[in-house]
Amino acid sequence: MHKKAKKLKVLFASSEVYPFAKSGGLADVAYALPKALSKKFEINVILPLYASIDIDKYHIKPVKLSFSIQMGGTTYDILLYKCRYKGIIYLFVQSELISEKEYFYGPPDQGYADNAVRFALFCRAIIKVLKEDSSYTILHCNDWQTALAPLLVKEDLSLHIKTVFTIHNLAYQGIFDRDTLDEIGLSPSYFHSEALEYYGAINLMKAGIVYADSITTVSSEYAKEIQTQVFGCGLEGLLVYHRTKLHGILNGIDTEFFDPQSDPLISHHYTPSDLDGKKSDKKAFLKYSGLKGAQKPLFVFIGRFTRQKGISLLIEILEQTASLEINIAILGEGEIRYRTQLEQIVSLNSHIHLFFGYDEETSHRLYAAGDFLLMPSFFEPCGLTQMIAMRYGTVPIVHNVGGLKQTVHSYKIFDPGAKHGFGITYSEQKPEVLLDALLKAVKLYKTPFLETLNLHNMRSDFSWTKSVEAYTALYHNLEQL
Ligand code: ADP
Ligand code: GLC
Repeated sequence: MHKKAKKLKVLFASSEVYPFAKSGGLADVAYALPKALSKKFEINVILPLYASIDIDKYHIKPVKLSFSIQMGGTTYDILLYKCRYKGIIYLFVQSELISEKEYFYGPPDQGYADNAVRFALFCRAIIKVLKEDSSYTILHCNDWQTALAPLLVKEDLSLHIKTVFTIHNLAYQGIFDRDTLDEIGLSPSYFHSEALEYYGAINLMKAGIVYADSITTVSSEYAKEIQTQVFGCGLEGLLVYHRTKLHGILNGIDTEFFDPQSDPLISHHYTPSDLDGKKSDKKAFLKYSGLKGAQKPLFVFIGRFTRQKGISLLIEILEQTASLEINIAILGEGEIRYRTQLEQIVSLNSHIHLFFGYDEETSHRLYAAGDFLLMPSFFEPCGLTQMIAMRYGTVPIVHNVGGLKQTVHSYKIFDPGAKHGFGITYSEQKPEVLLDALLKAVKLYKTPFLETLNLHNMRSDFSWTKSVEAYTALYHNLEQL
């Protein structure tokens, strides 16, 4: 009789995880990827216990293990909490610095001044968890907030853990003053260009890139792009140097959670064989928002108000859309300058509705109600929004870049046998080109081909299946190193 092989044990570390703490796609991935991997691995997820996390709702309880961490001459007390949610064990790191602040990273437009110390503490707590439980084989870190952990693993000779570092967004690197090195308890020997030094400052993202055994990023297009000056955010040289351990693995979406057939956050359900519910969702949404004209195409934008998402480009063309016989609904939060500009435009244009803030329910209602999703990103490592939109029968309009290029192909080369989705794509990031894409959408809206596209997209595979295969191979290769 064969004994069942023991599953590899993985600790997955992220500064955001849905449903506990989410500001963007990282949280979706940190929820859905471990869930998808848990069939093949024993996987626990670790995140900071922010003040906004509802410990009663999720039955989050303290674990016996409490400890203190000495860092840069200061002692920090840490409490570990735990819960099980949808079959996965989550560990939460509680400390005064992390947990007694209103925001995850800081108020809009700012990061907290002590973020380096806050997240270094999180990383040191991760190391403590690994030392307490010797059955872990792999540590999988995500973005700069957890980038120090691979370095700390290398420093600790008693740990035989292999590390993966995933770059979700190279634009956020965790850059701090040189003095921070001392505050986070690292030797001055790290202050050189092949380690953490970056133009006279220290760069925490570099720790992940240099010290992890393997680096992944969230699409193979972005993996290529970040090795160039245009998208490398100053780290292109370092990434080229480490390219043999850099892999692009495309994200998926949780197709159970994002499912118009059963989504509890939308009023009417629908499937590719019966789209009536989508029409009702649109009507219900128009009524709720006060937008007029169910016969007009509804364009939606869902995303952070930052340069990355191309919100500035959208703002440039908004007033010109008044003559197009369309409605536009925008949901997002972020930089205040964009909010102010949008509020001004919306006050003068009754065909545009703005929801300012972060609201999961409104986002689902928009995916269901929309005819077109606007995603004019300047760069996009992967992008989940366009995949969710396609699953809800909403045609994406995207700038041909990063993960958008890989997941949305031009409707002009539609192939019913293709495995991927289709939408309206454009290549030049200029207001007149974006406006032209909207005009194409208005034309497309009047043709029966729109439904053909939507039915194809709704049936396409945006699940995690292929990515899980790639991560599985990666973890097994690392184990054998
Ligand atoms: P990014 O991670 O760069 O923000 P993604 O497209 O990968 O972009 O993921 C964004 C995720 O956050 C999606 O699940 C999207 O629906 C959600 N989202 C973005 N902004 C909001 C908002 N204001 N309210 C609710 N959900 C939002
Ligand atoms: C980042 C990127 C986005 C990606 C998400 C999840 O926030 O901006 O493109 O989809 O992470 O990996």
